[in-house]
Amino acid sequence: MSPDPGRRHRRSLDGLRILVSAGPTREHLDPVRFISNPSSGRMGYAIARACRERGAKVVLVTGPVELAKPKGMRVLPVVTAREMLRACAKEFVRADAFVACAAVSDFRPVRQSRQKKKKDGRGDWLELRANPDILLSLSRRKQGRVLVGFAAETQDLIANAESKLRRKRLDLIVANSVAQGRGFGADDNRATLLEPGGHAAALPLMSKRKLAGKIATRLAALIRASRHQRIGRVE
Ligand code: CTP
Repeated sequence: MSPDPGRRHRRSLDGLRILVSAGPTREHLDPVRFISNPSSGRMGYAIARACRERGAKVVLVTGPVELAKPKGMRVLPVVTAREMLRACAKEFVRADAFVACAAVSDFRPVRQSRQKKKKDGRGDWLELRANPDILLSLSRRKQGRVLVGFAAETQDLIANAESKLRRKRLDLIVANSVAQGRGFGADDNRATLLEPGGHAAALPLMSKRKLAGKIATRLAALIRASRHQRIGRVE
């Protein structure tokens, strides 16, 4: 039998604490309507599993998805962006790395009606306010933690991803095109991995599970490098 291809990497995240955000958030207008996006949560769940398989202690903060709860990790369900921020901020303190895979709703309604909004022929009542950027806000307390982000773009994929990499002080960004609805909900993904200093790896189309394995492997190397750097600074 051929050896398990994952075995080589099996314990590369041994004992490390990895925080993963996954899925969409929902911002309710009233009890039956909300603003959201078609994120299935599959990429984030696959990353959480890949980290777990490599020996990490994983905390998965997840928006509403239709996936089975993964075993062997703490799973914290949330609904809104602000709930996700609160849960992630609490767990971030003890984390060695944060992989922000969630498709967070950038806006929420200013007002939320407790009763179902009746149609009155007018469509001008919806006022929106910006939600917090979870990854950006946690990147301000980075302190040696490794940060991985995603960039879902419909145009100028690499330029937009590079700008997010810099602005959010990331160590790695996974850029993928969502033009014409691609990427969302699918079982596979075509991504480019970008790192500071211009290092880029364009990966072929592959299953989200396989891509998650590649991201987890890179994550392990980035955490090791960050630790060496910190030790070097102390000595
Ligand atoms: N992100 C986040 N909180 C937000 C928005 C995004 O944590 N409110 C994270 C995502 O999880 C992802 C990265 O930031 O890792 C980039 O998300 P994306 O939606 O591609 O970009 P935005 O920063 O929202 O920028 P824009 O909408 O202008 O493309």
